[in-house]
Amino acid sequence: MAQRWAWAEVDLQALRRNVEAIVANTTTHTVWAVVKADAYGHGAVECARVALDAGAIGLCVALVDEGVTLRRAGIAAPILVMSEQPPEQHRHLVGNGLIATVYNSESIAALGATAEDMNIVCSVHLKVDTGMHRAGVAPSNAVARAREVLNHPWLSLDGVFSHLATADDASRNDVTESQVRAFAAVLNDLKDADIEVEHRHLENSAGALRHVAEVLRLECRVGIAMYGIAGDAASNSFGSPVGVQLEPAMSLKAKVSHVQVLEAGEAVSYGLRRPLASRSTIATVPLGYADGVRRALWERGEVLIGGKRRRFAGVVTMDQVLIDCGADSVQVGDDVVLLGCQGPEEVSANEWARLLGTIGYEVTCGISARVPRTYLR
Ligand SMILES: Cc1ncc(COP(=O)(O)O)c(C=O)c1O
Repeated sequence: MAQRWAWAEVDLQALRRNVEAIVANTTTHTVWAVVKADAYGHGAVECARVALDAGAIGLCVALVDEGVTLRRAGIAAPILVMSEQPPEQHRHLVGNGLIATVYNSESIAALGATAEDMNIVCSVHLKVDTGMHRAGVAPSNAVARAREVLNHPWLSLDGVFSHLATADDASRNDVTESQVRAFAAVLNDLKDADIEVEHRHLENSAGALRHVAEVLRLECRVGIAMYGIAGDAASNSFGSPVGVQLEPAMSLKAKVSHVQVLEAGEAVSYGLRRPLASRSTIATVPLGYADGVRRALWERGEVLIGGKRRRFAGVVTMDQVLIDCGADSVQVGDDVVLLGCQGPEEVSANEWARLLGTIGYEVTCGISARVPRTYLR
């Protein structure tokens, strides 16, 4: 990609330290690294390699294409596609040796037929809905659905899993506890039915770091914590203190592309919304809402230039933002940090999330593909 004066810098050493700390701090030290959505915007191939090297046992994606991208990069580790996929995708899934998730009979039959046709045994994890009610077989049908998989000679039942709905909200521990109980009951039902499954996983980042299912000695699927972001933006935590120190892996950076000094009363950008209170240096920075710098940030968001927090001088435009640097002098080419650290100051994804009424996940996933990723190794 051609160089532009704006980029997302991903610190792969920070990612590695995060994964190592997570692996060390989870109940069975058995972590699947969630790298869907291009590793939450961080770059799936690079992050997957580092996560595996730092101790993850496998990878999780949302789409077949995401798994295929990893395979094409030469990654041979187990890759779980975490929900059922359209039958048209099954050949791709099976042919690339991805692990399928199933919960409906139709999907099991269609996947099995494709695997048989291709002469390839397809590894399968059964997803159970223990209370999130997004996808999965009801606990009462889990054994029957597992048998459907087992009865198909071209499918191999290698895992059973579920997903937590409120793990990063300590005020909803009752929900998490009920999901853990429901999952434990499913594991017991499978055992009573003499069905053995190698991989059993339930916890996400918050669940794993808070050890919510410790007694069950499960594997876990960790996403957001790897990237150094706490799941709950409001408290900037995982709902309660956890035993790991995490570092954000992504910074969003740019260079000042234009500088003007404007008089008090003048205003900038669409709508000329906020007249300057005094003569000010205005820095133009070449990143905008098409890059993931959401327009709503202009009112209360801040960026870092010269080691100081600076306000937006006007609304965010599609490709550029305008920053009020007050009486300070700024040059074209000066460094700008929109997410990350500069000197003693830091702007975090969760700071943006709080301003935008969202979560850190959406912030990094929202840094669009036209922002080049660079990697600190
Ligand atoms: C099924 C499933 N498992 C695990 C995760 C990882 O969650 P987190 O990023 O909170 O660790 C996700 C993320 O959305 C998910 O959908």
